[in-house]
Parts: sequence; structure tokens; C-alpha cells
Amino acid sequence: MNERPKRQPAMTRADFLRFAAGSAAALVLGGGGGPAAAGTAKAMQRRAIPASGELLPVIGLGTYQGFDAAPGSEEYGRLPTVLRTLFAAGGAVIDSSPMYGLAEAVTGELLATNGNRRKAFVATKVWTRGQAEGVQQMEKSLRLLRAEPLDLMQVHNLVDWRTQLATLRDWKAAGRIRYLGITHYHAGAYPELAAVMRAERLDFLQINYSLDEREAERLILPLAAERGMAVLINRPFGGGGLLRRLHERPLPPWAGEIEVASWAQLLLKFVLSQPAVTCAIPGTGRPEHMADNAGAGRGRIPDTAFWRQHPELFDL
Ligand SMILES: NC(=O)c1ccc[n+]([C@@H]2O[C@H](COP(=O)([O-])OP(=O)(O)OC[C@H]3O[C@@H](n4cnc5c(N)ncnc54)[C@H](OP(=O)(O)O)[C@@H]3O)[C@@H](O)[C@H]2O)c1
Repeated sequence: MNERPKRQPAMTRADFLRFAAGSAAALVLGGGGGPAAAGTAKAMQRRAIPASGELLPVIGLGTYQGFDAAPGSEEYGRLPTVLRTLFAAGGAVIDSSPMYGLAEAVTGELLATNGNRRKAFVATKVWTRGQAEGVQQMEKSLRLLRAEPLDLMQVHNLVDWRTQLATLRDWKAAGRIRYLGITHYHAGAYPELAAVMRAERLDFLQINYSLDEREAERLILPLAAERGMAVLINRPFGGGGLLRRLHERPLPPWAGEIEVASWAQLLLKFVLSQPAVTCAIPGTGRPEHMADNAGAGRGRIPDTAFWRQHPELFDL
């Protein structure tokens, strides 16, 4: 987690600016999304939530680790700019969980104070057993996030899902949450996940998918499409390991064809190639990484056939 990937050496500053013109680079180099950046930026692409038709921007923000930062720390000091960068780029989705230490409290505090609250689509999770414990935890999450109604409540890792999903349905009917869903993060859970997806009506699925973890392609993503579920993608960088492995390598010569300026953008466009995917939520606590990631929501997003023309990518 601590090793910070650097920008690939083969890309010159001129290359970077050319590929990223009007995108994330403009936000960073232009000083965080001022009028110049906004004027040149292409809009971030959006995709519909099947249950409602509401459009969500395709790149969001995960708060695991990055937003578990103590007020007053150097890490905390960077977070207002992370959020401003997300919104300036046209992003909206922010994903948290009571599992992520201070992340819900920090997210709630910063959204309340930075004036962008209405631009956010806030998602969190319930991660406990028992009906009363679930209610108590969700009450706390809504309070910390200062979000009522909350946009999306998810059952984290399917923990006690029958019990928690029943409460989520009640809360949705009562208008306390707008959408409900389930999450997981590894292929070992896919058989159970698929059974729940078939048995229940769910607005959202959140699942891991990346160049390194492709198992969801086979059953889970097609099933989500068939069942009319929006899909959030967690771990698009394999938790960060993929980027650490790739950052020393030059970008492939065809990177310009799909308008990517960095490995992070390439990996995110790989994820977005799947038509079932609604939004990827890479985790970061760094403004420059947020800007980089947001750049993947602009320009050409190739279809899945594109990657099959470049099989060498899967051996990296
Ligand atoms: N079961 C579940 O429900 C579940 C499980 C896992 C994850 N999630 C959610 O999904 C989100 C994403 O997953 P994740 O955070 O585990 O893994 P990830 O998004 O695959 O990778 C995050 C790592 O990549 C680094 N990074 C991000 N953008 C970068 C960039 N442009 N250049 C270089 N490094 C970059 C981050 O470090 P920096 O902070 O230095 O940028 C961090 O170390 C989580 O934050 C969480 O909200 C949910």
C-alpha cells in the first residue's frame, strides 16, 4: 500500500499533455479544476442505473484506506482536494463502509464543508450480523455521512445478507435509502453471490474486476446485466498491486488509440469496456491520482474485442 507508483518513464510531458488534453491532466496542471480546466474538459461519460434510468458518471472514488485519515494529518489535508477533483471532473460516486475506520466520518465532514454535497452519490455498507445491530450500524453511517436519504446502502461481503437485506427493503420503502445492493471482492464468493442475484431483486452489485482478476466476466457480469442491476467495480487496480507492477513499464504503443495517458487510465478503461459495468470506484487519498483516474471517464472507451487484439497485455 505504501509504495507509490510513479508515472511511466517512457511518457514525456508533451505526450502526457497531448493524450490527456482536456482531461485529468488539465485538472492537475491547471491547479485543481479552475475555469481553464473546465473549459477544455470533455465531459465524463455516464451510464444508466437500470432500475431507474438515473445516469451515473463512470469513474467514482473508493474511500478504503485513503479516507481513513485523522483530522490534522498530512493525509487528511489532501482529501478536500481529492473530492474537489472528483466533482470538477464530473464524477459523483463515493463508496465507503463502517469497515473503513474513519472514512465515513471524514467523508461526511468534508462533503458538508466543501459545498459540493449535492453533486455526490454516496454509497456505504452494512457489515454486521443481527437485525438490531444492522439498524444501529446503518443509523450511525447515515449520521456520520450526513446523508439522509443515502443514495446506496449495500450488504458488505454478503454478511448476514438475508437479515440485512430485509431491513434495506424497509428503509428503501421508507425513503431512507434510494437504492440497495450487495458487495463482494473475491471469486471464491461468486457461487453464493450468483445465487443471491438470482433470488433477489437488487438495484446494485459491487464486485471486484481488473486485468488481474477477470473471473467476473464469466458469470457475474452477464448475470448482473440480465437481472437489471447497476454494477460498481471495486479493486480495479487489484488493490494497488497491478499499478505497482506496471508503473516502471512504458505504456503500450497503442495507448493513444484509446486516449489513455497512464496505466491507471488504461486499467480503468479495461474495466469500463464491459457493458454491464456502470461505474468503477478506484480508491485513492491523493488528488493527482483522483485526477488521473477521472481521465479514464473521457474519450474513447473501447469494447471488449479491442483487448483481445492485444493479448500481450494479459502477460504483463
Ligand atoms: N467487499 C467490498 O465491498 C470492497 C472490497 C474492496 C474494495 N471496496 C471498495 O472499492 C474501492 C477500490 O478498491 P481498493 O481501494 O481496495 O483497490 P484499488 O482501487 O484497486 O487500488 C487502490 C490503490 O491504488 C492506488 N492508486 C489509486 N489511483 C492511483 C493512480 N492513479 N496512480 C497510482 N496509484 C493509484 C491507491 O493509492 P493512493 O491512495 O496513493 O492513490 C491505492 O493504494 C475501495 O476503496 C472500497 O471503497 C469494496
